[in-house]
Amino acid sequence: MAGVGAADSAGALEKQVTEALSRLDLEARVRLLTGASFWRTWPSPEAGLRTMVLSDGPAGVRGERCDEREPSANLPCPSALAATWDEPLLGAVGRLLAAQARAKGVDVVLGPTVNLHRSPLGGRHFECLSEDPLLTARVGGALVRGIQAGGVAATVKHYVANESETDRFTVDVRVDERALREVYLAPFETLVREAGAWAVMAAYNSVAGATMTENALLRGPLKDEWGFDGLVVSDWIATRSTVPAALAGLDLVMPGPWGPWGPALVGAVRDGSVPAEVVEDKARRLLRLAARVGALTDPAGPGPADDTGADDTGAKDAGARDAGADPAGPHARDLLRRAAAGGMVLLRNEDGLLPLPGAGTPGGIRRIAVVGPNATLPRGQGGGSATVFPPHLVGPADGLRAALGDGVEVVTATGVRAEPWPAPLSTANARDPESGEPGVRVRFFDADGNVLLGERRLSGRLMFMDDPVLARSARVEVTALLTARASGRHPLGFAGMGRFSLRAHPASAGATGTGTGTDVSVAAGVETVLYDDTLEPPDGDIVAAFLRPPVWWGGVDLTAGTEVLVTLRHDPPAGMPVASFALLGEEPSPTGPRELETAVELAASADVAVVVVGTSDRVESEGVDRGGLDLPAEQDELVRRVAAVNPRTVVVVNAGAPVLLPWRELVPAVLLSWFPGQEFGAALADVLLGRAEPGGRLPTTWPARAEDCPVWSVTPVDGALDYTEGIHVGYRGWSRRATAAAADGPAAPVGSGLAASPPAPAYPFGHGLGYTTWAYESLDAPAVLAPDEPLRVQVTVRNSGDRPGRTVVQAYLSRGDSAVERPALWLVGFATADVAPGQRATVSVEIAPRAFQHWRPALGGDGGGAGGWSTEPGTFTLLVGPSSARLALRRDVVVAS
Ligand code: BGC
Repeated sequence: MAGVGAADSAGALEKQVTEALSRLDLEARVRLLTGASFWRTWPSPEAGLRTMVLSDGPAGVRGERCDEREPSANLPCPSALAATWDEPLLGAVGRLLAAQARAKGVDVVLGPTVNLHRSPLGGRHFECLSEDPLLTARVGGALVRGIQAGGVAATVKHYVANESETDRFTVDVRVDERALREVYLAPFETLVREAGAWAVMAAYNSVAGATMTENALLRGPLKDEWGFDGLVVSDWIATRSTVPAALAGLDLVMPGPWGPWGPALVGAVRDGSVPAEVVEDKARRLLRLAARVGALTDPAGPGPADDTGADDTGAKDAGARDAGADPAGPHARDLLRRAAAGGMVLLRNEDGLLPLPGAGTPGGIRRIAVVGPNATLPRGQGGGSATVFPPHLVGPADGLRAALGDGVEVVTATGVRAEPWPAPLSTANARDPESGEPGVRVRFFDADGNVLLGERRLSGRLMFMDDPVLARSARVEVTALLTARASGRHPLGFAGMGRFSLRAHPASAGATGTGTGTDVSVAAGVETVLYDDTLEPPDGDIVAAFLRPPVWWGGVDLTAGTEVLVTLRHDPPAGMPVASFALLGEEPSPTGPRELETAVELAASADVAVVVVGTSDRVESEGVDRGGLDLPAEQDELVRRVAAVNPRTVVVVNAGAPVLLPWRELVPAVLLSWFPGQEFGAALADVLLGRAEPGGRLPTTWPARAEDCPVWSVTPVDGALDYTEGIHVGYRGWSRRATAAAADGPAAPVGSGLAASPPAPAYPFGHGLGYTTWAYESLDAPAVLAPDEPLRVQVTVRNSGDRPGRTVVQAYLSRGDSAVERPALWLVGFATADVAPGQRATVSVEIAPRAFQHWRPALGGDGGGAGGWSTEPGTFTLLVGPSSARLALRRDVVVAS
């Protein structure tokens, strides 16, 4: 009967949509198909439609404004979420995203990102889930269902083949039909067909010569074959044409209100180049989305954004807007902490170093050193449009202090400064010159020099998108009072595009600044002009330039205790809808001469050394691919030096994507934390102290050396990026080489001049240790299977250790003797088992018929016959184990013809 109820409500929804559509003429329909602003769609009172708000994205829900005073719960990055392999947990995370969206008046979440980890260099690797299509589809599906259960639309992006950032607006991806279907389209197919996603985002790139907003793939397979009845929204400014994009199947151009549709699309319908039914279908899809998120039934909706928050005098203060309020209550914080711990992957743990014995137990720790660049500057998230402003970020040392209590001393040092630029000013190091409170003062001036708005902000990193105050401003000015903590040169700089001037006005030592912006009256001192010029935008990707603007910095010499008033003036180019700039902090940037020694000495003096290494939101970001996989600066040296002085060294890797760990055999324990979101330190302490299992299993292969990666280059050649590896992506590529070498006989002896063994990764796909041990005891599966029948498998595992634990039972297929090219093995199912020590559990893994199928390309690839899914009868081998490299349980299954 539930089905009847669902059909009834679907019918009622369609009726409501048809009724709303009937009230709109051509112009009104077309108007709805371009955004009303950066994040909003148009309302239509005659159709009972309110505006809808769209917002990024996978790391949390930012809302319409990029404002640190309106924080958002910050989730672990998607590669960390995928590492949990835990669909119920991710369902809960999806519901949290929906609740955050609702709290911020957001109807449509722009995520999840289901492009694949093709090359480890991909800049948005951290923002994607996995190198495997099935794992991506399963965890992505849990997120989509969770988000949509909260009445908020999920947007599956970026359709399709957007696996890297280099030249992303222009690159033409050339991928063969089988790889496209079996690998890159596969997660989209599952999320549309099975998870029922309400929106899909068309990517920037081209596939087979057509940009994705004009690509035939929008119709087939997305709409025609998979029956997608939701909305196809363009990636931001991705739409380049009126007629081709409209005919191809794009439904909504974002952002707006400008863009190539509008009156031009009305004209195209009038002159017959676009059939009126095409526009009707798009409007229907938009209204259907609106009905689904309650925008057709709830005309009041989230209401217009408070555009300035200013009172009549233009004065506004951070406190007035609930500064720093925690958007995540205790329940949400607990979920984020469990999700972060659940994604942490224990890569190595020699002699059971972890979990650490608590204070008071035999061998218990009394002093722990937490060192490394990411110990003192922890990273919760990667960079780009996914960025949110978290209410807090619990650092590793703070997390450990809170967990260990007073009995254990936690000491910390940076050791190596891994980023050559200072961090944005914050409440920790800057004061608002007007109120004297922590933070910076931002003032907006019109062309006559009148202050439109003045407010205290909590960070010098400011981003404006479609900001109504900025739109009326001729100048933005940021001022801050800084106090030099040490004598010497203090870097000062900014990032952004357009005209800037940066001035520093030192007061005498110990003096208090009383200046208010331009009319500075601080005590004695001479103003220094550090910069007065224009920072030009780089060529090409303007979105990337906004997200990662050019940086300039210089420096001022200060004696310890001197207070300096810093003023950054920015004249945004007229009509610029977005502006982004940061007034950078005064931390000295290069590693100090004794810093590494200090960290090593601290590590030597402690019972346990935790070295937190990693990357940052600058290294891993939308808009740019990475140049290599090495940890920045002297981090490898820091690890080696610490390991040499403390045999109980744990390395925590705080990165969203693979980095090289050349010292991994020299340290007893390596834990991958990823970018774990705002509860980093709390979750880390849980895992290090054994209060939580390191639940993660690698969703992507971790290479030992860059040159070993089967897929590497992300640089287009003559505008094209060839996915020459075809279906052999990720572990499929690694295992293919190994299988080919095994077939060729034993590895040649070193120095023989013959080919050596193929390289093995540092850590294979699916790998991750827990704190207990497992016996994979038996596998039950039918010996013969009818085509199109799911394979139901029972796997019995025993927890052979002395702690409760979790294992992820992974099932793969291989096919030794096949008439078609196949991966050496491919993931076809998984299940998790939580088992008490000494106990057994039998888990079921259901393997869908699709797992046995391959895509039969269209004849000749030029329309000479349609492609389709095909099952090759014969013997497949089912392989089961706790990682792609440990598959001890095997069973042959014959698929009948
Ligand atoms: C990104 C999308 C994002 C959009 C809106 C684009 O640059 O590629 O993932 O949703 O911006 O911020």
